[in-house]
Amino acid sequence: MPTSNPVIAVDGPAASGKGTIARALARHFGLPHLDTGTLYRAVALNLLRWGGDPESEFAALRACEGLAALTDDEELRSEAVGGVASRISAYPAVRAALLDRQREFAGQPGGAVLDGRDIGSVIAPEANAKLFVTAIAEVRAQRRLTELTARGLSAHLEDVLIDIHARDERDSRRAAAPLVQAADALLLDTSELDREAAVAEAIRLVEQRLAR
Ligand code: CDP
Repeated sequence: MPTSNPVIAVDGPAASGKGTIARALARHFGLPHLDTGTLYRAVALNLLRWGGDPESEFAALRACEGLAALTDDEELRSEAVGGVASRISAYPAVRAALLDRQREFAGQPGGAVLDGRDIGSVIAPEANAKLFVTAIAEVRAQRRLTELTARGLSAHLEDVLIDIHARDERDSRRAAAPLVQAADALLLDTSELDREAAVAEAIRLVEQRLAR
């Protein structure tokens, strides 16, 4: 019998397309969606506005307070905020401070879609369907560049690629909840798929998993 009110976990590296896929899955299945990267970005933005030191785990922990006011801030998507988010997300104290609200979101009775780095492994290990969305670094760098250009920002592909490699390295090497493909997650490589094809494949994989 198909699972009703499912929890769907979507994890993957920077610019893999996981956000687009998670939003599309939420629409398709009529579920609420949480982009957990936004929480880490909000902590980073809070810290930057205070003038707190990103090298200090204590300062980053203090910046975990009062995030609700920042969740729609335009600056959340900036590269500066993304860079600091990638650093402060390695602190165990920051991850612990953000844990409950993510678990609560995943545990709501009607089901939910969450995307991030550790949803299938730490936040919702019991999720009904898990996707690990990835793409080769060069493709992800090109997508991030297109995204930046569309927002009127200029950047060079080589710099964006260096940044993607640095984020991959920090995401997978950190001791606290590193980026890993959960053993029961389905791999979706979007390197050769456009947005539409990637979304269609994600829906197919999740439907197949939920029908089991
Ligand atoms: O846009 P990008 O994919 O680079 O980042 P994001 O998904 O908006 O997340 C911002 C930062 O938060 C990333 O650098 C991740 O390292 C971190 N993050 C995390 O550690 N755990 C999550 N569940 C989500 C994001």
